[in-house]
Amino acid sequence: MSSVRQPHHDENVVWHKHNIDKQYRSDSKQQKPCVLWFTGLSGSGKSTVAGALENALAELGAHTYLLDGDNVRHGLCRDLGFSDEDRKENIRRVGEVAKLMTDAGLIVLSAFISPFRAERQLVRDLLPEGEFIEVFVDTPLEVCEQRDPKGLYQKARAGEIPAFTGISSPYEAPENAEIRLQTATGSIDEQVEQCLAELLKRGIIKRG
Ligand code: ADX
Repeated sequence: MSSVRQPHHDENVVWHKHNIDKQYRSDSKQQKPCVLWFTGLSGSGKSTVAGALENALAELGAHTYLLDGDNVRHGLCRDLGFSDEDRKENIRRVGEVAKLMTDAGLIVLSAFISPFRAERQLVRDLLPEGEFIEVFVDTPLEVCEQRDPKGLYQKARAGEIPAFTGISSPYEAPENAEIRLQTATGSIDEQVEQCLAELLKRGIIKRG
C-alpha cells in the first residue's frame, strides 16, 4: 500500500487556524453550506436531477458546486477503477473535497453511485450535524436498464463490464435518506421542487 493511503498522524504537522473561516465565507454568501449527496444506480438520474437543482439554486442566487462521478473520474480519481476498494477510495476523496467546499461556504451537490452504506456514513461523519443531506435517487434497476443512456447495462449483461453496479456488484440502498426521489414516476421539475422544499425547511436557502 502506498504511503499516501496511510492515515496521517504526524505530530509535526499542526492545523493552522486562519482568520477567514467557514462562518465568514458562508455569511458573505448568505447561505448555509451543505452537501447534497445524490446516490443511486447508474442511469437512475442522479446527474440529471442534481444539474437541474443546481440551475434552480443558481437562479435563486446560491453559490454551488456540482461534483459528478463521471467527470471526477477523468481527473481527481482517474487512477481508480470499480473494485470495492477503488469505489471506497473514490467516495473518501470526494467526501474530503466536498467537505473543503462546504468550508468555502458552498452548497455542494454530488452525484456518485456510492453503493456502500459504510462509505456514505463515513462522509456523513466528516461533516457537522445537518450538513450531509442524503438524496436517494430511487429508480428501480429495471427502469435504469431500460433507459441505459450509455449502453453500459447491455455491455454488463453481455459480461463485457465486470463488477457493474446492480448486475454484478451490489448497491446498498439508503435506509434513512433525508430525501427520496422516485424518478420513474415524477417529473424532473417535481424532483427539483421536492429538493428545494427540503432545503428551505432546513434553512439552507431562504426562499424557494
Ligand atoms: S462509484 O461506485 O465509485 O460511486 P461513480 O459514480 O464514481 O461510481 O461512477 C459511476 C459511473 O461510471 C457510471 O455512471 C458509469 O457511467 C461508469 N461505470 C463504468 N464502469 C462501471 C461499473 N463497473 N459499475 C458502475 N458504473 C460504472
